[in-house]
Amino acid sequence: MISYQSAKEEIKQAADIVSVVGQFVQLKKAGKNFVGLCPFHGEKAPSFTVSQDKQMFHCFGCKKGGDVFAFWMAYHSLTFPEALKDLADRYNVRLPEKHFSAEEKKKADYRENLYRTNELAAVYFQRELAHPVRGKAGRDYLEKRFLPQDMIEAFRLGYAPKGWDGLKQFLLKNKISLETAFSAGVLKRSDKGRYYDLFRERVMFPIMDLTPKKRVIGFGGRVLDDALPKYVNTPETPLFHKGSCLYGFAASRKAIRETGRAVVVEGYMDCLALRKHGLEEVVATLGTALSETPVRKLKGIGKEAIVVFDADDAGKKAALRTLPIFLNERLPAKAVVLPKGHDPDSFVNSRGLDAFSKLLDAAPSLFDFYIDQKLGSRTGDIDHKVSVLEEIFPILTKVRNETQRALYIKRLSEKTEIAEPVLFSALKGLNQFSAKERPENDIRGQFASLNGDRSIGELQLLNLLLHYPETVAQLRGRHCRELISDPTVRRIVDIIYDGYGHSETLTFEVIQERLDLDEDRIWFREFGFRPAFCSDREVKQAVREFIEKAQKKKIADSFKKAMGDPQAINEILKRKVQAGGPVGN
Ligand code: GTP
Ligand code: MN
Repeated sequence: MISYQSAKEEIKQAADIVSVVGQFVQLKKAGKNFVGLCPFHGEKAPSFTVSQDKQMFHCFGCKKGGDVFAFWMAYHSLTFPEALKDLADRYNVRLPEKHFSAEEKKKADYRENLYRTNELAAVYFQRELAHPVRGKAGRDYLEKRFLPQDMIEAFRLGYAPKGWDGLKQFLLKNKISLETAFSAGVLKRSDKGRYYDLFRERVMFPIMDLTPKKRVIGFGGRVLDDALPKYVNTPETPLFHKGSCLYGFAASRKAIRETGRAVVVEGYMDCLALRKHGLEEVVATLGTALSETPVRKLKGIGKEAIVVFDADDAGKKAALRTLPIFLNERLPAKAVVLPKGHDPDSFVNSRGLDAFSKLLDAAPSLFDFYIDQKLGSRTGDIDHKVSVLEEIFPILTKVRNETQRALYIKRLSEKTEIAEPVLFSALKGLNQFSAKERPENDIRGQFASLNGDRSIGELQLLNLLLHYPETVAQLRGRHCRELISDPTVRRIVDIIYDGYGHSETLTFEVIQERLDLDEDRIWFREFGFRPAFCSDREVKQAVREFIEKAQKKKIADSFKKAMGDPQAINEILKRKVQAGGPVGN
């Protein structure tokens, strides 16, 4: 029988952390490690570090870190059992039943049931769409929107029929409680406490997560006529956060990686229409303004985003609002504004993909677009220029890369006809881009701050034990532990001493796992990413020095203790002479 622990180990063997993380974050080799832009917080310089030999990641900016399971959980917002299952499936590792605590089990069951409810609902909507009678209106509508059968199947489109309880009954039959279905967001509850279907007479667009399972986490549903609201979405649930989702992302990830670009549109139909015409690197927002979370995910996969907006004022406003986010996340972005009266769906269906691609290729940077929009035709109006500059400067201070900032200033100068030096000094006056975010950009700074009050000696000792495990046997039992005053370092060394020499190997991850305190783990990860302080040839000498130092410390300590006991002092002095060197240091 396989044990739970060995299954976990087997997954770790198979699921190399660099390749797993590499699917979601663009990693570059840097010395022994890989680095990239952190998917968990906004940053402009890579402080997200992945170590292949340690099979760990750590972000020096936001301090998130851990093994491959920790990454999977954080990136996909999953629980540990869910992450374990995902990776086990993915790497064909069989998982034995594990007995979780009652509380863990309850939480896992709760979420599992929410996923199940969504999946069942998707199946239900698909079946209803296929139903000869009940699904006809939905099929007719999709045909009218030029969506062929293969697209309907690939994106699991469905139909929510007329009536208040079709889905409700279906879920009850499948042993889903009404309370669960309500939590999953597919049923609503009246004031009187009656449950009823949220989606009625709508074509349904299931929204999938980014895991290989493509779990359904929510829905969008469109009416068949001009009734309002045109679209209804699943409300916020533990699984579904509208603002951080992109429609079609699971399907387009590969194409975004391959082409390096992500085309971002506003609607479900736009996304599907472009795909139908052969543009695969496309995602849609869910009727919300583009926020940091999806942009961060996009930048982990593509090199630029091209955001397509409707020509109306709302579209333009949306375009302008996204600029700070792209600048902040440092994902280069371009803007396409469609001809009046068009959205991507109507445009590509009437003019074809070539015409649309031409627009993409000719797209100006979002920055240029922003300035042009803001300046408008009133280029001669000084007051207007000043007010535009007042708006753009706070955004520019977010650009930390100096070259990039200089380029923006140059563009701004061209467009406003204000000399570059004037703009520079005005920007400097704002003086917002030095102090605050610096440390994040400087990994070395992070290392420096790591030490705190800890003495160099004890850090070197730990460093030696970690990089040259053979020294554990040489140093253990030689009083070196007494050289350590910091409780964190002590706890780590204790784990190393305890664990060394047992049958299992004491890897970096195992040590990390055995630390109980979060702060210890964070500190340990950062510490572990440092190189060895001495070379292979110097190891022997270092061991000797530590033993000597510990010996002296021991003598000094007992000397202090023995103060007032002449006999004991004599004993100590004798030993001191044998050890050589002065007492205390
Ligand atoms: P179609 O008319 O089906 O082509 O939709 P569209 O995508 O052209 O519509 P529109 O440009 O009006 O909206 C873009 C996106 O905003 C939609 O795909 C929805 O995600 C969202 N949206 C539009 N109308 C509503 C609404 O009434 N309620 C909600 N919650 N979202 C909406
Ligand atoms: Mn449309």
